[in-house]
Amino acid sequence: MFTDLKSLHSEICSEDITDLFDRDPDRAATFSVRHETLLFDYSKTRITSRVRTGLTSLCEERGVAAKRDAMFRGGRINETEKRAVLHTALRDPEGPELLVDGEDIRRPLRETLERMEDLARRVRSGAMQGPGGAFTDVVNIGIGGSDLGPVMATLALAPYHDGPRCHFVSNVDGAHIHDILQRIDPRTTLVIVASKTFTTVETMTNAGTARRWVEAGGGDPAQQFLALSTSEEETEAFGIPQEHVFGFEDWVGGRYSVWGPIGLSVMLAVGPENFRAFLAGGKAMDDHFLSAPWERNMPVMLALTGIWHNQVCGYPTRAVLPYDQRLRRLPAYLQQLEMESNGKSVAMDGSALPFPSGPVVWGEPGTNGQHAFYQLLHQGTSVIPAEFLVAAMGHEPELAHHHKLLVANCLAQSEALMRGRGLDEARARMRAEGYEGAELERQARHRVFPGNRPSTTLIYPQLTPYVLGQIIALYEHRVFVEGVILGINSFDQWGVELGKELANTLAPLLAGETNPDGKDGSTRALLDYVRGTKG
Ligand code: F6P
Repeated sequence: MFTDLKSLHSEICSEDITDLFDRDPDRAATFSVRHETLLFDYSKTRITSRVRTGLTSLCEERGVAAKRDAMFRGGRINETEKRAVLHTALRDPEGPELLVDGEDIRRPLRETLERMEDLARRVRSGAMQGPGGAFTDVVNIGIGGSDLGPVMATLALAPYHDGPRCHFVSNVDGAHIHDILQRIDPRTTLVIVASKTFTTVETMTNAGTARRWVEAGGGDPAQQFLALSTSEEETEAFGIPQEHVFGFEDWVGGRYSVWGPIGLSVMLAVGPENFRAFLAGGKAMDDHFLSAPWERNMPVMLALTGIWHNQVCGYPTRAVLPYDQRLRRLPAYLQQLEMESNGKSVAMDGSALPFPSGPVVWGEPGTNGQHAFYQLLHQGTSVIPAEFLVAAMGHEPELAHHHKLLVANCLAQSEALMRGRGLDEARARMRAEGYEGAELERQARHRVFPGNRPSTTLIYPQLTPYVLGQIIALYEHRVFVEGVILGINSFDQWGVELGKELANTLAPLLAGETNPDGKDGSTRALLDYVRGTKG
């Protein structure tokens, strides 16, 4: 499928990206996309007009428009689970009638949102209290999509926090919940058990521990526990009263769920109005995705840049580098969004994929990463496309000089990756420092930067709730478009099952309740080690 693009790539792969700018003074404008106040610049890549034409024709060949429209309409595009994919409806509660199985989903969706808002207002005003008085702390217990979205968004919107402190427990490692609970009061803490299925072992283990902690500390679980889930039976079996349950439907995938009840902790932190602004930002990106022509469609061009770098150029990873400390959990959030969605090796029809899928996504905020792994980005043997994100303006006017430095570093990195530094320039620098002869040659080679390393930059005015909504919806649709082009189902995650099943067989082995026959030698030796270790 990528044959033409691959031959185009071999034709142009030795060209300098800087030459592309020399030949086309308008390159930055031609190879960037605007949506409202957001600018996505992909000009510092080797994408040319011919490449872009080849890439956008993939959208036609693979039927991106039809699949996109089917998703928004509620078609069962998650074929392996026979489910609709409608997280987009969560950010459009006032939209027109939308039928799933003959029922309009907008009304219940609006009602749930209004219930969330009512609860958030009561908690934030102190009208709803715990046995010890107004709620001072919220602990969201969840994992994967029931954790990463809420954590990422809560941290991102720190300047808007005026509600109770929010904490997040995800890991089944008891250290996680222990270190959080020991800092807070069991009589003024609201516990949110966030789990689509309400059966996830990590979450249910942590929820049980939290309930015992509340009871032991003189609290009242009946007043202090909320559940966010699709399963009424499971929440009832856990003992959470109906009025404390915020339900959603199976057409909301876990990693796409921050827009609905799973986002309750975000709403408690920043308030219903800011949460609505977050939804509105997501909806604005949806409208853009639905209507803009491919070349001016931001999620599409972000996806095509990903396809170009991974499937065509063969770069196996991509680095996400937010120059925005408050987006420090964005890389982790995107790891689930992108890798759980598109880390597949089988096409929709069950055949083996004839090309790689799902690049490894990783990253850290700048400028910290510069002092850690950027060495490899600049001089390592692998080419790693970098995706920078940066705000033109911070939230701290008194620290504007920090922000200028932050932005300067971000722009400097993409420039350095592209430009590099040749051997002649390195030699001249060494000569100026007094080196000569063989030592000059040896030293100069260490100071060469190959350059021509592609990067993109997403720049936005300021990280507001609305802008955050735009950014998250942008990445969701990017994953969708990449998935359609690759012909995979981006909405299932069968690859997480085997490990879960085996963990269920290992827990009784660790407790010595069953015997390890049938386990491999390595697993048996590791079990022996643990069982032989006395605390
Ligand atoms: O890791 C698999 C997974 O199913 C994710 O897709 C999901 O976000 C996470 O587990 C948590 O699931 P739940 O919300 O049902 O507890």
